[in-house]
Amino acid sequence: MADEYKVLLRSEVEPYRLIVPLIREAGCQIVRWNPLEDAPPAEVLKSVEGVYNFGHFPFTYGHMDSMPSLRVVSNFGVGVDHIDLEAAQLRGIPVGNTPKLLDGATADITFALLLATARNVVRGDHYARSPEFTQYDPSFMLGQEVHGAILGIVGLGSIGYEVARRARAFDMRVIYHNRTRNMRAENDLGATYVELDELLATSDFVALNAPLTQETRGMIGRRELALMKKTAVLVNAARGAVVDHDALFECLSRKDIYAAGLDVTDPEPLPRDHPLLDLDNLVVVPHLGSATVQTRDAMARRSVENLIAGLQRQPLPSRIV
Ligand code: 8YV
Repeated sequence: MADEYKVLLRSEVEPYRLIVPLIREAGCQIVRWNPLEDAPPAEVLKSVEGVYNFGHFPFTYGHMDSMPSLRVVSNFGVGVDHIDLEAAQLRGIPVGNTPKLLDGATADITFALLLATARNVVRGDHYARSPEFTQYDPSFMLGQEVHGAILGIVGLGSIGYEVARRARAFDMRVIYHNRTRNMRAENDLGATYVELDELLATSDFVALNAPLTQETRGMIGRRELALMKKTAVLVNAARGAVVDHDALFECLSRKDIYAAGLDVTDPEPLPRDHPLLDLDNLVVVPHLGSATVQTRDAMARRSVENLIAGLQRQPLPSRIV
């Protein structure tokens, strides 16, 4: 039993249903903070021992500075680009996340977007329901063949590996670009390492599955999109900021590539009048990568385990720094 540790729960929305009960069950006292509103009083922050982060609001050096008793930060999710890891490291505060648990679900949504864009599933759904659909026409809404195509994966970590595994079942040839070679994917799945430009120019489908870092921010811009085939599809299930949205809008509106499927955008959500949202060669979903009951449950449990371990000064089951 954690002995009435004080936990700051940062969330703009009601946290996933298991989180509060699990933290309370461990005997912690919860202080809620919606980061869109004023921070709790300085006196309260000074006594906070653990931070639980639900969502992607920045957690900065300044925040850590205001919490001298802080000894663990637990993030609901694997991506920690919103947390100042250097500051945490400097202060010796462990940061927990939820790797591996969401690989399968995120690979599934990558494939869902790939299929939906290539085969006009969303456009087709709208049309099939509309008054305009009065006559079946076999020449209509021709998509791009998925099976047998070339899939280029940018960022072949554990999520990318699951994407490559799924691609094999579609008889796709997998090429990839990554900071380092992924020998497991090469040996098990026949994935071939190529430079980014070659990947973009060769692939029928480009799947972005890399974390957001200094190197990947804005990695796909005008120059990179211009390298892609006119028939190619771009799928982003990584972070919105990996792709330059103005460049993507220009490219899609000129039909320089066939389509794009986005699980993530920058910002999230996009302003409601953002021009990308008017394009019918774009399929966008609201960051659903790991949004299944099974994966959310696993993420909730692991992230609370990380929190409690840190509060008790034990090793975190999943620690990023
Ligand atoms: C999570 C994600 O749902 O784990 C991640 O990094 O991007 C998502 O799949 C999200 O972080 C929770 O907000």
